[in-house]
Amino acid sequence: MQRKFWLGAAVLAAVPAITLQAQPRPAAFVVPRGLPPLVWPKDNPYTPAKADLGRLLYFDKRISGDGTLACATCHDPKKGFTDQAPVSTGIRGQKGGVSAPTVINRAYGMLQFWDGRAGSLEAQAIGPMANPIEMGSTHPVVIESLRKIPGYRARFKQVFGTGDFTLDHVAMAIATFERTVLSGNAPYDKYKLGNKAAMNASQIRGMDVFFNKAKCDQCHEGASFTLNSFHNLGVGQNKANPDQGRYGVTKNPADFGAFKTPTLREIEHTFPYMHDGSLKTLEEVVDYYDKGGIPNKNLDERIKKLNLTAQDKADLVAFMKALSGTGWQQLTEPKEFPQ
Ligand code: HEC
Ligand code: HEC
Repeated sequence: MQRKFWLGAAVLAAVPAITLQAQPRPAAFVVPRGLPPLVWPKDNPYTPAKADLGRLLYFDKRISGDGTLACATCHDPKKGFTDQAPVSTGIRGQKGGVSAPTVINRAYGMLQFWDGRAGSLEAQAIGPMANPIEMGSTHPVVIESLRKIPGYRARFKQVFGTGDFTLDHVAMAIATFERTVLSGNAPYDKYKLGNKAAMNASQIRGMDVFFNKAKCDQCHEGASFTLNSFHNLGVGQNKANPDQGRYGVTKNPADFGAFKTPTLREIEHTFPYMHDGSLKTLEEVVDYYDKGGIPNKNLDERIKKLNLTAQDKADLVAFMKALSGTGWQQLTEPKEFPQ
């Protein structure tokens, strides 16, 4: 997969044409080291032009009701694709009830939102535009105003074959861009690939605490450190009106107060933590787990007192910082938008 980069023109020229033909076609999109290949949806395959169009839409404030908010306002690349706020601020200063999760590595999860109410990135993308406390527009208005922009008409025509595009096309383009928002190639990946100097002693000890002593990987497992499963850690469950979480979708009483396990990639940049942004630092998160969460009738059986030492805790935090890598940093705001 990585080969695409180092197989420069000179190398290719030296390979006999016959061998070239026998080669599988090069991967269309190369993921950072340490991540599995992306599986693109059959009905929304990757093309560079579609991802470019999605990037324009993602950063374009004209899709909000009053032209003040883009997706990037709350999922800002400069802030690890979050807004680094406990809860987000939508149109006309309205505060939402939960913290904005990062878009990074969402390509590897199907269910979106803290309660998993959207079944794909395409389904998720259309939500915020018509959410009265987020972007505060309506879908017909979004489409009508975008269709009036000749530059967008041309781009949609190029990507989807029609200038009379629909909401589905907008969602497909944005989702394609989002699937390119990735983080891998972290010190942890390099360490695993054999570079034993990539993590320091504290991070190596912290890795042992993470996988063996605290067993954080019971939920934070796999290349993105999440099984995308829903669990009740007790966060906010001692409040007067606790958030129902996954229960809102499944209506299964056992899911009350359960939320989706977030990725731990880039975790040092995506503070504050938890669905309600109630924990400010990674140290606070570790203390929260160490004390066994907040008791409530649905507390996950895996959440219990850990008896970590001060050294364990410091090492665990150090290890989580070894999950900061590369990929997403190159996705910056476009300099110009279609007119
Ligand atoms: C006003 C701030 C705001 C804006 C604007 C906004 N979002 Fe969000 N986004 C949030 C919040 C808050 C959540 C969590 C909501 C929930 O789970 O109930 C979220 C959730 C998501 C998720 C789910 C991530 C996960 O881990 O499940 C994705 C993906 C996403 N937004 C992408 C977008 C896209 C694409 C746009 C533009 C069309 C957008 N957002 C606009 C605040 C915002
Ligand atoms: C039972 C499953 C489970 C286990 C075990 C678990 N986590 Fe989590 N983790 C979650 C869920 C679910 C959330 C989100 C909870 C919420 O917001 O209510 C979360 C949130 C987090 C967050 C905040 C992420 C963010 O973006 O806000 C961090 C950091 C974290 N966990 C680290 C750890 C560490 C370190 C351990 C081991 C000590 C651990 N987790 C063990 C399921 C788990």
